[in-house]
Amino acid sequence: MSRPLRIVVLASGFGSNLQVIVDSIKAGKLRATVVAVISDRHDAYALQRARSENILSIYIDARQYPDRQKFDAALMEEVARLEPELIVLAGFMRVLTAQFVNQYPNRIMNIHPSLLPKHKGLNTHERVLRQGDSHHGATVHFVTPELDAGPIILQKKFPVSRADSPASLEQRVHECEYEIYPRAIQLFADGKLLSTKQRIDIN
Ligand code: GAR
Repeated sequence: MSRPLRIVVLASGFGSNLQVIVDSIKAGKLRATVVAVISDRHDAYALQRARSENILSIYIDARQYPDRQKFDAALMEEVARLEPELIVLAGFMRVLTAQFVNQYPNRIMNIHPSLLPKHKGLNTHERVLRQGDSHHGATVHFVTPELDAGPIILQKKFPVSRADSPASLEQRVHECEYEIYPRAIQLFADGKLLSTKQRIDIN
């Protein structure tokens, strides 16, 4: 059996997707190892989760760098040292520069709280309600320099009901995310993601 996939997780916040990935690994459902968790927020609970799991946790303070390019250069240096096979964005709330993204073609995954290409960017749950969408959900995709526009790997959707609020949608989207993110990473680990420029075929 091949060795576990080396992943580095980038996270800015609560880290529940990180936790699901770690739990999937522990349960034997995902053949991967989280080499490190890197955050741009010193108070990110994701870092706390990493420490509790004995995973290397790294904080990079954006205020020490004059611009995005310099921050991403520092981030790239840290990431390169860790030699990941896959970089996993799990609630990482910074837009990565093309300089970073182009270094890892089809090797950076992101989870986004909408059915892309609908609702790129922020406040997706509010926008779903405002526009009266019939369905909402989550998307795992590869990261390209254009925000939330890379090839889609997996999506899971559910019907929106009249009773839904941003909070209820957030909770239901999270449930979708917890299902598809570990699966997408396992597909990558198994070498099953065949990328064309616009989309991913799962063989
Ligand atoms: C997730 O819902 C993820 O889709 C979203 O942040 C949340 C992080 O939750 N990501 C984005 O909005 C990226 N643009 P978590 O920290 O509990 O995993």
